[in-house]
Amino acid sequence: KKRVVSGVQPTGSIHLGNYFGAIKNWVALQNTYDTLFFIVDLHAITLPYEAQQLSKASRSTAAIYLACGVDPSKASVFVQSHVRAHVELMWLLSSATPIGWLNKMIQFKEKSRKAGDEEVGVALLTYPVLMASDILLYQSDFVPVGEDQKQHLELTRDLAERVNYLYGGRKWKKLGGRGGAIFKVPEPLIPPAGARIMSLTDGLSKMSKSAPSDQSRINMLDPKDLIVNKIKRCKTDAYPGLEFDNPERPECNNLLSIYQLISGKTKEEVVQECQNMNWGTFKTLLTDALIDHLHPIQVRYDEIMSDSGYLDEVLAEGARNASEIAEATVNNVYQAMGFLGRR
Ligand code: TYM
Repeated sequence: KKRVVSGVQPTGSIHLGNYFGAIKNWVALQNTYDTLFFIVDLHAITLPYEAQQLSKASRSTAAIYLACGVDPSKASVFVQSHVRAHVELMWLLSSATPIGWLNKMIQFKEKSRKAGDEEVGVALLTYPVLMASDILLYQSDFVPVGEDQKQHLELTRDLAERVNYLYGGRKWKKLGGRGGAIFKVPEPLIPPAGARIMSLTDGLSKMSKSAPSDQSRINMLDPKDLIVNKIKRCKTDAYPGLEFDNPERPECNNLLSIYQLISGKTKEEVVQECQNMNWGTFKTLLTDALIDHLHPIQVRYDEIMSDSGYLDEVLAEGARNASEIAEATVNNVYQAMGFLGRR
């Protein structure tokens, strides 16, 4: 079976972008592939965060995975920090990562600009190396993510090839090394629709956990009244009718896309249904569809959160499965890189 891995940071609230860009697609993949889905708590400390909140956020994120349909009898669900090999491999990989590759990362540039020099920890820069280790540890074939992770995936692929060349390739073999690829080179799986859900208050910036205004996103756990309120107040425009793909109307395109995704309809069906609607009618339709879709997820979430024994068991089992694969890879990398083995 081909292998699929992915993860979400336990920071802020999980929103529709995380759902349509990532989690919902995982659920479809778990039937066909060997899947591992992690909660990337080690990534969550790369910007200032609240230590008292971290463990709670990790459990909540895990519960959201399950509530959205990730099935622990099919997929391994675990917390990144529970599998020590992630950090170990990261160190090994960082020795093969040119610093120039990291300086070029768009997310690093954006996040560090916002935080200011004194606030930027080294981990914000090396973040993509940890992400590469999350993926390469499992010899993954595919990584389902949203559009914003594309550059990190490219770096992961480059790094896999570089390590294969440096320590697994012909060059190293000539010097007496083992030869043979060390890492599989993974491919991103970016969904044709939903890879970039935009903010409700600005159709030109993406929906994001860290945006200061909660009004800009629909969170998976938003209660009914809040959804009503957010859609009522979201940004629209004054053009007649509704349409996809008009660059002058980014908000309109985004809201129709969200409706298409949440209703499970095709683009053509949505065009037929909505092209002559006014905003008031459409907003009611969208609000109802959001509530209908999110309500059962929220009910399951509450059930899962009320049984902490069950959730802990799922995470423990997931970490056991993952550790087995991860240990084998990291041991192999130590060996390939020439370390003295332990007896
Ligand atoms: P994170 O936590 O920012 O986002 C989790 C997933 O949600 C997707 N996403 C979106 N998709 C569509 N529209 C949006 N507005 C939107 N916002 C976020 C992201 O693309 C992502 O798939 N570095 C990663 C987490 C990570 C990871 C990994 C992912 C760490 N290690 C290994 C895959 C494999 C991140 O910060 O995602």
